[in-house]
Amino acid sequence: MEVKIRKATPDDAENISYIWEIVCAERIYTAVSTPFTVKQESEYISSLSEREGIFVAEFNNKIVGFLTLDLWSKVIDSFKHVGTIGTFILPEWRRKGISYILASHTFDFAKANDYIKIVVYVRKGNEQAIKFYQSLGFLIKGELERQVLIDNVYENEVFMEKFL
Ligand SMILES: CC(C)(COP(=O)(O)OP(=O)(O)OC[C@H]1O[C@@H](n2cnc3c(N)ncnc32)[C@H](O)[C@@H]1OP(=O)(O)O)[C@@H](O)C(=O)NCCC(=O)NCCS
Repeated sequence: MEVKIRKATPDDAENISYIWEIVCAERIYTAVSTPFTVKQESEYISSLSEREGIFVAEFNNKIVGFLTLDLWSKVIDSFKHVGTIGTFILPEWRRKGISYILASHTFDFAKANDYIKIVVYVRKGNEQAIKFYQSLGFLIKGELERQVLIDNVYENEVFMEKFL
């Protein structure tokens, strides 16, 4: 399978927003309960610094998933070596190794851009994402209680970290 990974531009906002719609509609995987609109996504991509990005996975020119890399803090300088990520793949494209490829590309970018660690927050019930991040070497470091409220149900979140 030939998957191409590249950094998103504001022109990709429509396709990325479409993936948010699908994953948010599933309700169980992300703390994002309302999908970002094309305008919001476009503005967000434009706002990212050189050290951040959304990396998209394309198959036959169709975006099938993406991974976001943000600074842990956009304003506090002492956190500048820490990044945070999120990974989102269209349902029919899951379990094909696409996230592995996206993560590998992102970690290379992060290392080249002076990050030394990545932190990720995952809903506790999202076992497949926890397994995915563990398979990349992330360790669970703790749990936040009733951190997410979706459809009137609270859920804990676990936080995980990986040194690059
Ligand atoms: C979690 C998610 C990003 C994984 O992406 P993916 O492309 O399916 O993952 P990969 O195929 O690259 O799998 C890499 C490894 O992760 C683990 N993994 C991925 N999906 C898994 C699952 N459903 N069950 C158990 N382990 C899983 C495995 O170790 C897998 O390696 P293997 O297939 O050789 O066993 C994807 O399922 C997804 O988009 N889910 C919905 C959104 C989401 O939960 N995002 C995370 C929010 S932080």
